[in-house]
Amino acid sequence: MKLPHFYSVIELDSIDSTNLEAKRRIQAGLASDGTVITAKLQTGGRGRLERQWVSNEGNLFVSVIKNSNLSPKGEHANLTSDFYNISLIDSSINGYCSPALLPFATAIAIGKTLQEFIKPTPLYKWPNDVLVEDKKISGVLIETINNYFIIGVGINIANHPEFGINIPATCMNKHSLKKLKVHEVLIKFLENLDKTFNYTEQQIIAEWVKSAYGIGNNIIINQGENEISGLYTGIDVNGRLLLDTASSKREAILFGDVIFKNHEK
Ligand code: BTN
Repeated sequence: MKLPHFYSVIELDSIDSTNLEAKRRIQAGLASDGTVITAKLQTGGRGRLERQWVSNEGNLFVSVIKNSNLSPKGEHANLTSDFYNISLIDSSINGYCSPALLPFATAIAIGKTLQEFIKPTPLYKWPNDVLVEDKKISGVLIETINNYFIIGVGINIANHPEFGINIPATCMNKHSLKKLKVHEVLIKFLENLDKTFNYTEQQIIAEWVKSAYGIGNNIIINQGENEISGLYTGIDVNGRLLLDTASSKREAILFGDVIFKNHEK
């Protein structure tokens, strides 16, 4: 398998979770910047908020290890509230890009990859989902350990669970004339990830927002015990979702699930 420069890939048949395996190998000194771990299937695939990620053979499960000193370049100074429908509520972090934008850069790399194989335009659902025709096709789980980021990505290629969390699911082969190979998707994804790592913060935010799902809609943020509703107006430089609530207070949301009316089960 030809991989973009610099990556060394470990291909496993089966593992609990490629992210957990990456953690174990980093802790044992067996993996570092550029190590990529894939598996044909995961027996304990993990999603955001400690959820399960259904991980049957035929889909891509990959964890990319990067030094945590990697951060998209750029400053926030040029962004204004009119720019790409983004309102900045925090521009105090001069020249420093929080790792909070990494899931967004990763989602863009996934979006670019999907576009190389299938026709429908992928859209990004905050914070870390990629949708095709209103259905979830991919998710991102980024974790940190010992100065490394573990960028975990699942892309549904051959199969998908019936229903994800709050949203139906789909897979690439449903939109492709030929049966796609996991390897070809992986290679393109790694190439695209390299590209988006070289984006500035402004590029990441602009590109993500350009294809964001549901900006301008009234939504509910479900945070478990807490629910907040309001108008979804964009994201800020830290990747927080901006919500105009009924009390006309703008809130920057750090975590939670976005519920759209058309996706309620
Ligand atoms: C989500 O949508 O909640 C994130 C899903 C992330 C799944 C990937 S598959 C490869 C890596 N290993 C895991 O256990 N999870 C991530």
